[in-house]
Amino acid sequence: MSRPAGRRPLILITGASAGIGAALARVYAARGWDLILTARREAALEALAGELRAGHGADVVVIAADLAEAEAPLALFDAVQARGLIVDGLINNAGFSRTTGFLQTEPEAHEAMIRVMLTAPVALSRLFLPDMVERGFGRVINVASLAGQMPATGGDTLYGPIKSFVIKASQGLWLETRDTGVHVTALCPGYTLTEFHDVNGSREQVSSAYPAWMWQTAEHVARVAYDACEADRPRVTPGLANNVLAALGKLLPDGVALRMVAGHARRLGRI
Ligand SMILES: NC(=O)c1ccc[n+]([C@@H]2O[C@H](COP(=O)([O-])OP(=O)(O)OC[C@H]3O[C@@H](n4cnc5c(N)ncnc54)[C@H](OP(=O)(O)O)[C@@H]3O)[C@@H](O)[C@H]2O)c1
Repeated sequence: MSRPAGRRPLILITGASAGIGAALARVYAARGWDLILTARREAALEALAGELRAGHGADVVVIAADLAEAEAPLALFDAVQARGLIVDGLINNAGFSRTTGFLQTEPEAHEAMIRVMLTAPVALSRLFLPDMVERGFGRVINVASLAGQMPATGGDTLYGPIKSFVIKASQGLWLETRDTGVHVTALCPGYTLTEFHDVNGSREQVSSAYPAWMWQTAEHVARVAYDACEADRPRVTPGLANNVLAALGKLLPDGVALRMVAGHARRLGRI
């Protein structure tokens, strides 16, 4: 399905202040999209907005929001509506993990993980998708993880299950929006060079446990995601090694796969 006639398409990206979200913003701007950028750090969003306006002539709106707050998705939707903007694309990318172990992680942090990576994507999809379907054009990327394709690991107990949810929910949406002009893709990156492992404090462990070739750049991941969504693929896992791991996670008996990820958690000192 072709882009909307007579105007540039507009995409809303969550978690656009850094990492994969910022890389996706650059990819979409380079391909002629206008953008709404959201995250908590307004100054970083404004800096990126300035770069995209100057570099690509994109119209960029910045709306700061904390998606760990229950009312944030609806407030974001209302702020977009109040500006009279027509949203043609949604990227649910914001996320973080805690690797301190379930019992050592504050309940508030668990709640925030669930809100940012699960509740907010569901709410934002429900708010923005109906108009995309009605207009016959839309693009949705839900950023999951290779972790969502593997058995859950000790240490970051909730992260894998949340990302599995994102993959399954994206597949359901992909099925429901078939032939409507709306494409839905779950993006499942493996290790990617962003602020993610600095935020959860695991940079040193993961850098020493996994060789450089296992790491991908956010720019590469973003380009793969864009192409997959344009091609209407329900799921994409960037990188051959990550696809091999995902296939093993699916094919191996549960007990064997669980022992495999237990080795991973032990290498990182998480169990
Ligand atoms: N890096 C990896 O190895 C990797 C692998 C697989 C999947 N992923 C997934 O990729 C996505 C992006 O992560 P990344 O690697 O790009 O990490 P990152 O560089 O740390 O970026 C995370 C983004 O999420 C935003 N965010 C975090 N908490 C938020 C909150 N409460 N409200 C609103 N925005 C929030 C951050 O913005 P503010 O701090 O400004 O709010 C930032 O823009 C995540 O969903 C992550 O799970 C990452």
